[in-house]
Amino acid sequence: MKESLRREYAPVKDLKPDDHIKMVQDIFSTITGKYDFLNHLLSFRRDVAWRRFAARKMHFSVTRRYLDVATGTADLALEVARRYPEVQVIGVDFVLEMLEKAVEKSARRDKIRDRVHFVQADALALPFADASFDVVGIAFGIRNIPGRLGALREFSRVLVDGGQVVVLEMQSPEQKMLRPLCTFYLRHVLPRLARRFTRNPAAYLYLADSILHFPSSDRFSGMMRDAGFADVRNYPLTLGITRLYVGRKGQ
Ligand SMILES: C[S@@+](CC[C@H](N)C(=O)[O-])C[C@H]1O[C@@H](n2cnc3c(N)ncnc32)[C@H](O)[C@@H]1O
Repeated sequence: MKESLRREYAPVKDLKPDDHIKMVQDIFSTITGKYDFLNHLLSFRRDVAWRRFAARKMHFSVTRRYLDVATGTADLALEVARRYPEVQVIGVDFVLEMLEKAVEKSARRDKIRDRVHFVQADALALPFADASFDVVGIAFGIRNIPGRLGALREFSRVLVDGGQVVVLEMQSPEQKMLRPLCTFYLRHVLPRLARRFTRNPAAYLYLADSILHFPSSDRFSGMMRDAGFADVRNYPLTLGITRLYVGRKGQ
């Protein structure tokens, strides 16, 4: 393993938005190499099923274009491209190292690589015209964006009327009995596992902290409505440690 980066990150609750953004960029530019491996290991491969579930909920009818925000190494973008052969997919992320991995993965898939493209951009200022996508999705990304309401409004801007926003996110389970178990796993087991495999284990302390600070499903659904989405529904996955939120642009 490469030499440890010995990073330390401030707790999420103490962060100013600008510092939070810099920290997120630092984290995702240093864990890229082991990102996919650790995702699968730490979630016992449930992350693959969660992204499949998210892709199954999507509908394409007008532009047949899908925007994957905070695409990272493109697992959701590639799943959507695989499931919907008529759909053009664009993945955006502001961390170049993650996008390089995304490009490498997509280039290996003959059947879909011509329909998948990547752009370096910020979720809060998407370089696309109004109403250019049927569906905007974001998997495990919204938690890392301090200006969540602004991001959701930006997603709404680039969606056609009636288009869907699909948000997959990890959070503390809402069943009281499961919460201590989840907190123990996130605070004690996950960092130990991460320490064995990544040169920036502090990144995984941030991961745990950000999951534990994500709003309840009621609050986040309310934020989606405030951003202009209707018919907001959420689906608890794997005992509620992950939720899929789906909303439709319009009244
Ligand atoms: C946990 S990863 C998720 C990657 C991928 N969607 C997945 O399912 O594995 C979060 C990603 O969000 C990106 N990100 C965070 N804030 C962002 C922002 N404001 N604009 C663009 N990308 C952002 C990070 O660079 C990182 O690649």
